[in-house]
Amino acid sequence: MLSMVVPLMTLSESKMQNSNTEPDEKNSQVSDPSKQSFWNERWETKQTGWDIGYASPAIAEYFSKFSDKEATILIPGCGNAYEAEFLVNEGFKNITLVDIAPKAVEILKNKFAGNTNVRILCADFFTIEEKFDILIEQTFFCAIPPGKRKAYVQKAADVLNSEGKIVGLLFDTMFEKEGPPFGGSKNEYEQLFNPLFNIVMIPCTKSITPRVGTELFIELQKK
Ligand SMILES: C[S@@+](CC[C@H](N)C(=O)[O-])C[C@H]1O[C@@H](n2cnc3c(N)ncnc32)[C@H](O)[C@@H]1O
Repeated sequence: MLSMVVPLMTLSESKMQNSNTEPDEKNSQVSDPSKQSFWNERWETKQTGWDIGYASPAIAEYFSKFSDKEATILIPGCGNAYEAEFLVNEGFKNITLVDIAPKAVEILKNKFAGNTNVRILCADFFTIEEKFDILIEQTFFCAIPPGKRKAYVQKAADVLNSEGKIVGLLFDTMFEKEGPPFGGSKNEYEQLFNPLFNIVMIPCTKSITPRVGTELFIELQKK
């Protein structure tokens, strides 16, 4: 679980795969990635192999050219939220971070202590009731069970203001191991998002080395 096929692994992902051998699987209390306890256990045991350690370069490039610093931005499944650190440095003022894992939220609250531009919620994305201008997608969609993808699309539309956008990355590959991460394809995503979003979905040209050729950059505007 939570490891990627070898060509996609970063160093930390590789370490995580090593720590994710059979005995760990047997010790694991929870195996359902729709549960809070599944994710909190990963955070508590430091099985965070998805963590690249800095803001995704493609997302950083997009927001470095984005002029409306007052835009309300939601980052669901934010993890260590390096994108939020980047946004703060760029002058963005309305950033909301959401993660379901209390341990992740504890880390975030320390990291962003005293920063009035960043709000941190320990919550399930599917229960968020507010509206935002932008939703940043960075390895959250691939973390939820594929059976919940339609619900993700609907919820993303629900939490976005009129003409709001999802901006970020989706994997354009299938993983050998059982997810998360759960892979997918451009064709599948187009069919999923098309009813509710106008779609820009292009091969990512700024992927980190282990993910080159496996990511799509997305800018999906609510219809
Ligand atoms: C694969 S990690 C990605 C973290 C971060 N976006 C990154 O790229 O480093 C997925 C994150 O989503 C969180 N998560 C999983 N299901 C969630 C849900 N339903 N609502 C909010 N957060 C969730 C997990 O706790 C975890 O931190």
